[in-house]
Amino acid sequence: MSNRIDRVIITGATSGIGLDLAKRFLAEGSSIVINARDEAKLARVAASLEAPDRVETVAGAVGDPDTGQRLIAAARRRFDGVDVLVNNAGVFAVKPFLESTENDLDGFLTTNVKGTFLVSQAVVPSMIDTGGGSIINVGTVLVEQPMTNMPVSAAMASKGGVHALTRALAAELAQHNIRVNALAPGIVRTPLIGDDADSLAGIHPLRRIAEVSDTSDAVLYLARANFLSGVVLNLDGGYSNGR
Ligand SMILES: NC(=O)c1ccc[n+]([C@@H]2O[C@H](COP(=O)([O-])OP(=O)(O)OC[C@H]3O[C@@H](n4cnc5c(N)ncnc54)[C@H](OP(=O)(O)O)[C@@H]3O)[C@@H](O)[C@H]2O)c1
Repeated sequence: MSNRIDRVIITGATSGIGLDLAKRFLAEGSSIVINARDEAKLARVAASLEAPDRVETVAGAVGDPDTGQRLIAAARRRFDGVDVLVNNAGVFAVKPFLESTENDLDGFLTTNVKGTFLVSQAVVPSMIDTGGGSIINVGTVLVEQPMTNMPVSAAMASKGGVHALTRALAAELAQHNIRVNALAPGIVRTPLIGDDADSLAGIHPLRRIAEVSDTSDAVLYLARANFLSGVVLNLDGGYSNGR
């Protein structure tokens, strides 16, 4: 079955969407391996979570090939494998196209696309060994529905890659009973968006921004939806349907 959630790897789990996911999966009884770059903060977060005996940490940037290998090694050592990988670590910034530098582009591509690719590549052999699993990537609804007044071309060049990778992997890995889906949120209340997040509520027909409880609900759904693969799920308060 590829809807088990006993053992979960979550990247970017010290803040926002990833931190709430860590709490939710623990509350569901999962054992988790959590990751972020800031090692001291990662240790503080791990210590603050319920059930520390079900939490393992691996610090490192997801774009570094070593990080994925260390994540799966930790999951194998502590929990004997992994059922769910959430490629949540990601970066985003609003910047006009003509002001975006090569460095900006490299930063988005390295974390968002290369990170998702390399961590998945490190984890998939273990899922194949244990008969399947579920990978959930985090994209954004802005890939399919750009906004005239929110210039994010460099960030979207990378998140578009995450959506494309999701579908390509869903096709390639289905033979191994590995499901691959993506969550594409609208605006979510996290430190990434900042204190003025509610000013963006009107983007969504439901006239509010998403809370991290909304994103966790959707990721839990994707993790458990046993016949769902290759889906990019818009979690956007109706934004992609029409405004
Ligand atoms: N918030 C939104 O409105 C929104 C909308 C659509 C999509 N998303 C996506 O949702 C995901 C989570 O966003 P968020 O809003 O929760 O962001 P956040 O609050 O800024 O948290 C980002 C997390 O990722 C970690 N991280 C960043 N770069 C990393 C790297 N290279 N390697 C490993 N960990 C890294 C951060 O810790 P360190 O800095 O210590 O590494 C932190 O734990 C991202 O992929 C983002 O693009 C967010």
